Amino acid sequence: MKKESIKMLQELCKEMNIKIESLSYGWIFKLSKDNKVRYITGNFDINRTASSKIACDKYGTFEVLKSQDIPIIKHTMVFNPEERKEYIKENEIWDIVYKEFDKEKKVVVKPNYGFEGKGVFLCNTLEETKEAVKFLLNRNTSISICPFYDIKKEYRAFYLNGEILLIYEKEKPLVIGSGKDNVRTLVENLNLPNNDVVKNNLSKIDMDYIPKENEKIELSWKHNLYGGATAKVIDKENKYYEEIEHLAIRSGKALDMTFATIDIINTKNDELYVLEINSGVAASIFSRIVKNGKELTKEVYKKALIEIFK
Ligand SMILES: Nc1ncnc2c1ncn2[C@@H]1O[C@H](COP(=O)(O)OP(=O)(O)O)[C@@H](O)[C@H]1O
Ligand SMILES: [Mg+2]
Repeated sequence: MKKESIKMLQELCKEMNIKIESLSYGWIFKLSKDNKVRYITGNFDINRTASSKIACDKYGTFEVLKSQDIPIIKHTMVFNPEERKEYIKENEIWDIVYKEFDKEKKVVVKPNYGFEGKGVFLCNTLEETKEAVKFLLNRNTSISICPFYDIKKEYRAFYLNGEILLIYEKEKPLVIGSGKDNVRTLVENLNLPNNDVVKNNLSKIDMDYIPKENEKIELSWKHNLYGGATAKVIDKENKYYEEIEHLAIRSGKALDMTFATIDIINTKNDELYVLEINSGVAASIFSRIVKNGKELTKEVYKKALIEIFK
């Protein structure tokens, strides 16, 4: 758990008269109340094990939701032939890669067990696709190839027991030109997270370029807050709210989740698709960068704590 989440958890436990102890170098949190003991290791121990495992696997989530006619972005499985000999042979990988690239012309390749946008590659050529597949297969048991979707907005819905507690929209990290500052200066004003993903994104951008007034320069094609994307809470006034809420509830139920975040994209053609489901409800960055983010996150965590002690 990230330090903001630990702090929120500790504050909530105090407010709710729950005794909290940190064990095993901070990996385990032991929570006790009314002769009941519960553990938190990275995420709230609330979901069924199988549902939680499926949510951690992007391809598994795809098949489970597809089997229930829920719109989810398309995934094609590529197993690692060394670790999964029974499913695929080395020479068969490239047939899959050629076929998918040929069909889509622009694809996203990603680890099935990834997070924070790490190892998620956008490929515009067959060469790039092959390179990404090779790179990822060296490090992962299985990966997915997805068509590229032109995303207008991405959303995250917090789901608990068939209800949506909160939805926020994500915007890719970008700078807006002033007509006189270069990209470097504009980026400095953004206060981006200091991590490898952000550094890698910035390394591909011409920092000396001076964008025209109001010109938008995107710093990444991904919507991960970890990579500097921004978040804004939306409510029922938003024209997509109800549709997103409805799709998130259907998805959470379809995967038999209790507590989860459900990421949904809206494409430039106004089509909603589930992107992924996370059983570890991470909101540390959200709580830090959004006005009232901490209060909103604590509200969500409080409901989860009530649930685990039920
Ligand atoms: N098929 C796709 N088309 C367009 N963008 C995508 C696609 N898949 C992922 N992305 C972008 O990459 C980001 C990270 O991908 P995601 O599947 O959510 O992996 P992670 O679990 O690492 O966050 C998404 O937030 C989205 O902006
Ligand atoms: Mg994601």
